[in-house]
Amino acid sequence: MTEEEFRRIYRFLKARYGIDMSRKKEIMQGRLENYVRAGGYQSFSDYMNAVESDFTGKMERELVNILTTNHTFFMREFEHFDYLRSKVLPKLKRKEERKRDLCIWCGAASTGQEPYMLAMLLKDFFGLEHEKWDTKILATDVAVEALQYATAGIYDKEQIDPLPEPWKRRFLRPLAGGMQYEITREIKDEVLFRQFNLMDVFPFKRKMHIVFLRNVMIYFDKDTKRQLMQKVYDIMEPGGYLFIGRTETIDRSSTPFELIQPSIFRKQEGKK
Ligand SMILES: C[S@@+](CC[C@H](N)C(=O)[O-])C[C@H]1O[C@@H](n2cnc3c(N)ncnc32)[C@H](O)[C@@H]1O
Repeated sequence: MTEEEFRRIYRFLKARYGIDMSRKKEIMQGRLENYVRAGGYQSFSDYMNAVESDFTGKMERELVNILTTNHTFFMREFEHFDYLRSKVLPKLKRKEERKRDLCIWCGAASTGQEPYMLAMLLKDFFGLEHEKWDTKILATDVAVEALQYATAGIYDKEQIDPLPEPWKRRFLRPLAGGMQYEITREIKDEVLFRQFNLMDVFPFKRKMHIVFLRNVMIYFDKDTKRQLMQKVYDIMEPGGYLFIGRTETIDRSSTPFELIQPSIFRKQEGKK
C-alpha cells in the first residue's frame, strides 16, 4: 500500500464515517490485503476506484465491515448496568409512570451483546410489570455484518460465560450440541437492529431517555466527537442519561451535558 493509497482510504473513511485511521496504516493494510488480492484487483487504487464507482453501495459496506473494529463482549463495563439498575431506572420509572414508555438507543451495537444485556436488565428490573411498559431498544451500528450476527443472536458458550447464571437460564437457550446458545424470543423482541451511521443527520422522532454510545468515539477525532455530542444532546429527553466507554473522554468545556461520573452524563431537567 503506497502512502498515497493509504491517504485515499483513510480520508474516505474519515469523511464518511468519522473513523480516523490516519495512524493505523499497518492495521488497515493487514485487514484489506487479502480481500483486495482475492478480488483480483491490481492495487489498492484499483480497488478504491471500484468502491467509489459502485453506486449500489455494496462495496462500500464491505469496506466498512472490514475496517471497523467490532470487538465487544457480554458484561463489558458492567458498572454502567449497575448504575442503571440502582439510580437511573428507579428515577425514570417514577417519572414516566403515566406513559410507561422509555426510549433507549444503543448507537454502536456491534454484534448485539450490549443491547441484549440492556434488554435483560430491563426485564429483570421491571419484573411482572414489564408487560405494561414499552422499553424497546433501538440498536444501531454502521457495520452490516456485525448487525447480521446480532440479529441472529447466537453466541458460543465461552461468550455467554460471563453472564449471571439466572440470566443465562432465563434469557438463553442451548442449541443442539450444547456449544452454542441463542437469545430467547422474549429478549430478541425487545431489540430492534438497524444500520445507522452516526455521522448522518439523526432521524429519530422521539427523544431518548437512555443512550449508550460506548467505545466508538475512540475512533473519532476531537471535532467529530464534539459535533456528535451536540447531536446526541439534541435528541435526548431532559433528565436523560448518556453512557460512553469508561476509557473514553469528551472535552468537558464543549459539552452541554452535566457530568455525573466519568463516562456517565445527563441532560439536565428543564433543558430543551
Ligand atoms: C468496539 S465496538 C463497540 C461495541 C459496544 N458498544 C461496546 O462497547 O462493547 C465499536 C462499534 O462502533 C461502530 N462504528 C464505528 N463507526 C461508526 C459510525 N460512524 N456509525 C455507527 N457505528 C460506528 C463499529 O462498527 C463497531 O461495531
